[in-house]
Amino acid sequence: MNVRLDPSGPLKGSVVPPADKSISHRLALLGAMSDIPVHLHNYLDAADTNSTLRAVEALGALVERRPDEIVIRGTGLREARQPEGVIDVGNAGTLMRLLPGWLAGQAGRVFTFDGDDSIRGRPVDRVAAPLREMGARIEATDGRFPPFTITGARLHGIHYELPVASAQVKSCLMLAALIANGETTIREPEPSRDHTERLLVAAGVPLVRDGDTLTVTNVDELALPGTMIVPADPSSAAFLIAAGLLVRGSRLVIADCGVNWTRTGFIRIAQRMGAIVLGDLEDPTGDAIPASEPISDLDVTAGPLLGTTVEPHEVPLAIDELPLVALLGCFAEGETVVRGAQELRVKESDRIAAVVDGLNGLGGDLEATADGFVVRGTDGLRGGTIDSGGDHRMAMLGAVAGLASAEGVEVRGMDAAAVSYPGFLDDIDALR
Ligand code: S3P
Repeated sequence: MNVRLDPSGPLKGSVVPPADKSISHRLALLGAMSDIPVHLHNYLDAADTNSTLRAVEALGALVERRPDEIVIRGTGLREARQPEGVIDVGNAGTLMRLLPGWLAGQAGRVFTFDGDDSIRGRPVDRVAAPLREMGARIEATDGRFPPFTITGARLHGIHYELPVASAQVKSCLMLAALIANGETTIREPEPSRDHTERLLVAAGVPLVRDGDTLTVTNVDELALPGTMIVPADPSSAAFLIAAGLLVRGSRLVIADCGVNWTRTGFIRIAQRMGAIVLGDLEDPTGDAIPASEPISDLDVTAGPLLGTTVEPHEVPLAIDELPLVALLGCFAEGETVVRGAQELRVKESDRIAAVVDGLNGLGGDLEATADGFVVRGTDGLRGGTIDSGGDHRMAMLGAVAGLASAEGVEVRGMDAAAVSYPGFLDDIDALR
C-alpha cells in the first residue's frame, strides 16, 4: 500500500499510543510459562504480537481472545508441548530471540522456528551461542539464521558476558535460567530495556541486579499477578512526538505513555536538542528492580532544534528511535551524529542504510558511518518518495517526514506499520 502524506498544518490534541510491543511479547510468553491463568489488558493487537499468541498456542497454552482482555492459560514452566509444525514468528525478532530461552530446556522435545524474508536475514547466533553453553542443542541455517531447530535438553547455569547490550539476548538467557540447574549470571556492557526483569520480579522470581550483573536461579513455577495491564509503547509514541516537534505550531498530549527509564532515551536526546517534551519521566532505578512500569502523559510542543551527538552508551536506550533522531537532525541547526549503533544494521532492515538513503532521497544531507550516521541539518526536508522495505519503523518515519516536509512524501509499503502500530495513520488524522 502506497500512501501520500502532504505537508500538515499544526497537529493538535491528545492521543493514547498503542500498547507496548516489548511488554506484550513478554507477557504472552510468561503467561504461557505460568501455571495460573493470566488476564492481559491492553495487549497489543498488531502483527508481531499476534505471532506470539499463535506461537504460545502451538506450544499448548490456551489463549482466549475476549473483547476487553486476552486470557492465557499456560502450560507451566517445564511442559511446553512439541508443536505439529514450525513455529512461525512472522516478522517478530523479539519472539524469535526470547522464545528459544524457554524452549531450549524442554528436554526431549523438538522445535523448529521460521519467519518472513526479513527474519530469515536476522542472526540467531547471539542467542544460540550462550544457550549452547548452557547445554542447549540448536542447529541454524548457515550456522546463524532461521530456519533453525532446537532440541530441548537439560540446561545448566553459566556466567555470560553479553558482547553487545541487547535486551533480547539478556531476556532469552533469563528465561532459560528459570529451568536451568544452578545459578545463571548475565553481565551487560550497558543498560538495555528491563521489562523482563520487572515482570520476573512481579512473578515472584528471586532475581538480583548488582550493577551491570543479573543473577537468576531456577524456580518451580511463575506466579504472575492474575491481571496485568500493558502500558502504551514509548517507541510508537516517539513517532507522534517527532511529528509534534517538527510540524510547525503543533501542541500534542501523548497520554498514558510508558516512561520506563530504559525506554526514554529518545526523549532525553530530543530534549538535549532543545525539544519541549514535558512529562514525569522515570529516573534510573539503580540495583532495585521495580515490579511495575511507570506511565505519564507527555506534553509536546513544536520548536527549533539543535544538532547533538548520541554516544554509544545512549544507543540501547533509544535503539528503535534512532531513525527519528536522524529525522530531527534534518530539521536541526548544525550536525547530529550517532555513534556506536552498529546494531541498527541487523534490525528489521539495515536501518543505517535505510535511514540514510531514505532521508537523502527526501532532500536530507546524511552520511552513513560504520556504526551510525552523520546528519547535516538543512532546516527541513523537501519531500519525495520513500520505500519502507517492509520495515514498520521506516514506513512511519517516512510518514512523519511527509507531514513536516515542504512538498509531501509518498510512502511505499505503508502497510508495514501494522507490525507494531496498525492505527498509526488514523491517529495522525485525528490530530490534524
Ligand atoms: C527489543 C529489544 C531491542 C529492540 C527490539 C525489541 C525487546 O532489540 O531493538 O525492537 O523487546 O527486547 P535488542 O535487544 O536486540 O537490541
